[in-house]
Amino acid sequence: MPNGMDAPDRRPVAVISGGSSGIGRAFVAALHARGYRIFACGRDPDRLRRLEQDHPGVRGMICDMADVEAVRGFVSVVLDESPRIDLLVSNAGVLRILDFADPAIGAASADLEITINLGGAIRLVASAMPGLLAAAPSRVVVVGSGYGLAPSTAAPVYSASKAGLHGFCKALRRQLAASGIGVTEVLPALVDTPAVSHRHGRKLSPDALVREVLRAASRDRDEVLPGAVRWLPLLLRLAPRFTERMVGRS
Ligand SMILES: NC(=O)c1ccc[n+]([C@@H]2O[C@H](COP(=O)([O-])OP(=O)(O)OC[C@H]3O[C@@H](n4cnc5c(N)ncnc54)[C@H](OP(=O)(O)O)[C@@H]3O)[C@@H](O)[C@H]2O)c1
Repeated sequence: MPNGMDAPDRRPVAVISGGSSGIGRAFVAALHARGYRIFACGRDPDRLRRLEQDHPGVRGMICDMADVEAVRGFVSVVLDESPRIDLLVSNAGVLRILDFADPAIGAASADLEITINLGGAIRLVASAMPGLLAAAPSRVVVVGSGYGLAPSTAAPVYSASKAGLHGFCKALRRQLAASGIGVTEVLPALVDTPAVSHRHGRKLSPDALVREVLRAASRDRDEVLPGAVRWLPLLLRLAPRFTERMVGRS
């Protein structure tokens, strides 16, 4: 380049919450291989450092999705470096087994999944809107869960957070259609990640899931129901009580 000027960086930009583990890490790997410039966040600095080492050029930043200012700060660093966000992946999430029949349940952190999984996703999308609009046609991918369609009895607040995300995605998709921003919601069943290492049963590989999601997103699909979740909407129509009970026990 003459005059020692840097060439403009023309790579598409992806922002991924919870990029340091599991499904989010698989998004980072797949998008890095496809030439994206990536900004990923999480809370654990060691895991973020390992992510950066494994994928040179990826920026791993500390950000707690429960913290409004932290989310705003994370996205403002991204927007300072790139005015456009081509792909936003809202993935960070936690799941707890919670028993409301236990009198010790307490109110203090009973709604944690609502704050992180639902509130965090909403904060992230709202903060990223200037970048998504500047890059349009652009896309938001939201990692929900099959429990957003039929809840797990053991994880009531998690299920509520994912049901909330399902409604949010539907409305967001309609609001943003005219702006050229697509919304793809992913509703997986069990995926083989550290979060569910203690659980048995058939698990999808995170890499295969991400390949399916990116293919669906490139075809402008609204929802991805991988594996057994594919049958859930039909089963809920044909045999709602049986299906609710079956999913509830899982
Ligand atoms: N695995 C499954 O079977 C499955 C099924 C359906 C849906 N999902 C959904 O998939 C998403 C990813 O789950 P996973 O299985 O890949 O879990 P995971 O391996 O535990 O990864 C979760 C990621 O989210 C980050 N994270 C968690 N809380 C955060 C917070 N408050 N702020 C910022 N980052 C946070 C974690 O990093 P730090 O801990 O360092 O913050 C980590 O990078 C979640 O939304 C989950 O509900 C998973």
